[in-house]
Amino acid sequence: MGEIFPKLGWITVGLSLLGGALYIARKGYIYLKKNNKIPISYEKQIKQIMQLLAKYHKYIGSSAVIIGFIHGYFLLGGIRLHTGFISWGFLAFLMVTGLIGPKYYKKSWRKIHKGVAIIFAVTVFVHLFFRNLFL
Ligand code: HEM
Repeated sequence: MGEIFPKLGWITVGLSLLGGALYIARKGYIYLKKNNKIPISYEKQIKQIMQLLAKYHKYIGSSAVIIGFIHGYFLLGGIRLHTGFISWGFLAFLMVTGLIGPKYYKKSWRKIHKGVAIIFAVTVFVHLFFRNLFL
């Protein structure tokens, strides 16, 4: 059973990458559209994929928050200062900016969300390569 908790860490990484894929896909989509490079025969399908990514983005992100917490809480046996919890804190903040941002910060929330995502990505690397920095 103990084996599962490190694996949940990788699942959190996977979900985070999938969440980030929306940003990359959207940039690519806008570029292709602007330059009229989307073949008419695939236009509908590509649009559907984009809509699907956008629709599930918040569920993917929220699952990462929950699974990441379970991963860390059970590996450490509680909440304390650890690179994992710092990373998780940014992930949870990322979720908050995505959930309340569009309502309260209509103009700036995308920039904030992106900025927090970048900081989160850096903290994940710190967590993976300098795991026990505070021990
Ligand atoms: C909630 C706070 C977190 C804590 C307290 C925490 C704690 C830990 C600990 C103690 C380990 C070492 C496990 C071992 O060596 O067997 C670990 C490994 C790992 N963590 Fe976290 N973590 C947290 C959040 C996260 C998050 C948010 C991610 C991903 C975005 C993540 C991804 C990983 C990965 C991929 C590993 C490597 C697992 C392996 O050795 O195969 N962790 N974490």
